[in-house]
Amino acid sequence: MYQFPLPIPSVAQPEFTETIDGRTVQFYSVEIAPFTTQVYPNLGLAHLVGYNGTAPGATFYVPKGTETIIRYLNNGEQSAAVHLHGSYTHSVWDGWASDEMQVGQWKDYYYPNSESARAIWYHDHADGHTASDAYYGQAGVYIIYDPAEDALGLPSGKYDVPLALSDKIYQSNGDLAAPSNNPINFFGDTIEVNGQPWPYMAVEPRKYRLRFVDMSLSRPYNLYFADPSGNWIPFQVIASDSGLFGGPVSTNDLTISMGERYEVVIDFSSYAGKNITLGNNMQQTQITEYTNTDKVMRFVVGNTVSDSSNNGAVPSTLNGNIQWPAARTTVDHTFNFQMGGESTWTINGVDFSDANNRILARPPQGTVELWELHHTGGPAVHPVHIHLVNMQVISRTGGSRGVLPYEAAGLKDVVLLEPGETVRVLAFYGPWNGVYMFHCHNLVHEDNTMMDAFNTTILSA
Ligand code: C2O
Ligand code: CU
Repeated sequence: MYQFPLPIPSVAQPEFTETIDGRTVQFYSVEIAPFTTQVYPNLGLAHLVGYNGTAPGATFYVPKGTETIIRYLNNGEQSAAVHLHGSYTHSVWDGWASDEMQVGQWKDYYYPNSESARAIWYHDHADGHTASDAYYGQAGVYIIYDPAEDALGLPSGKYDVPLALSDKIYQSNGDLAAPSNNPINFFGDTIEVNGQPWPYMAVEPRKYRLRFVDMSLSRPYNLYFADPSGNWIPFQVIASDSGLFGGPVSTNDLTISMGERYEVVIDFSSYAGKNITLGNNMQQTQITEYTNTDKVMRFVVGNTVSDSSNNGAVPSTLNGNIQWPAARTTVDHTFNFQMGGESTWTINGVDFSDANNRILARPPQGTVELWELHHTGGPAVHPVHIHLVNMQVISRTGGSRGVLPYEAAGLKDVVLLEPGETVRVLAFYGPWNGVYMFHCHNLVHEDNTMMDAFNTTILSA
C-alpha cells in the first residue's frame, strides 16, 4: 500500500502541425498494440493492450481551436473504435461502436476542439468488448485549455495532475485477471491511479489542481482526503465534464461515477511533513466488498514549496460564460434504463443490436430537449452518458438524494442514476446533425447492450 510513486502519463506529441486556410491542425499517430509492464516489481509482467505502449495512454494537451487529426492504427488483438468522450465530434469520427477498425486497419479521427477548456478522455468503444478493452489499457486523458482558463491563475504545470481511477484484479503471478467475475458488473479488489495500484505522490505544501477521471468499468467512488488523524479536509470542486464551474463549490467529499470527470483544488499547505490519504467510502453492496477498496492513494507532503506561483485563492468567478441550454419544462423523451434478463440491459426495452429500432430520439438539429432518465430497479447503478451534448442536470427524484451541488454547478455529459432515481437533463442537440450513441457507462452494461442512439436531424428548409 502506497509503496510506489504515482505515474504521470507522458504528454502526447504531434508528429507535425500544419496551417490550413489559417486554421492550425495537429497530426498525431497512435498505435493500438499489446505490451507488457511491470506492475508488481517482485512478480511477473502484466499483459496489456494500449495506446502507444502505456496505460493510461499519453495525455493530450490541446489549445482550444487547434484542430487535431489522430491516426489510430489497430495492431491490437481485436477490433477497435475510438471515442473522444466529451468532444462534440462529428458523428463519422465519434467512435460508433460498429464502425470498427479490424486488426491491421487504421482510421483518421478528426476533432474540432472548439469547446471551452475541459478535461475529456479517449477510450475504446468497440461493439461488445468496450469493457475489456478499457480494462486492458485503451483509455487516456485529453485536455483542452484556453486563455480564459489560463488567466485564472489556477495551479498549473507540475501542480496540475490528471488522476485516472480504475479497479483491477491481479493474479498471483503479477498479470491481470480477466474482468469477468460477475455477469452484471465488474468490481476489482485493487484500486489503481494512473495504472499503479494504491500509489503515493510526493507533493509540496501548497495548492494542487487534481483532475479525476473515473475509468473503472463498474465502480463509482465517493472520494475524501483524510489527515493523519482521519479528519476529512475540505476542498473546492472547480470543474466537471464540460469544464469550469461558474464558481468553486466547497465540499468534504465527492461522488464520481464511471465516465465522469471532476477537477478539484486541494490545499496541502497546513500539512507539511504529513501524509494525506485519498479514501473512498462508497462500499459496493452488490458484492462482498474487498478489504482495501476504501483506499485510493496517498499524498506525502514535503516541507518546501519550489514554486509559489498560481497558489492564490481560487477566484470566486471561474467561468462567466457557461452555455446553459434555454429553459424548457416539457419532457421530450422518457428513457427507462432496465434489466432485460439475467445479463441483458436495455433502454426502453430496445438494445443496441436491434439496428432497426435503436434510434430512440430525433431531436431537430439546434433544438433544446428535456430528457427524463429513469432507473427501473435492481441494485446496479447506471451512469448515463449522452454523446455530443453538454447537459444541465435539472432534477433528481425517487431516491434519497437530489441534484448534488457540484452536479448543478456546470454542464455534464454523464449523470449517475441510482436505483429508483429519475433524473431530468436539458441539452442543446447540436451543433452537428448525425447519429450518436447514448448509453449506460457501466461498461459491462454497455457491452450487454444498454446502449441506443439518437439522430440529430436536419431541419428541412
Ligand atoms: Cu465514455 Cu460512449 O463513452
Ligand atoms: Cu448500467
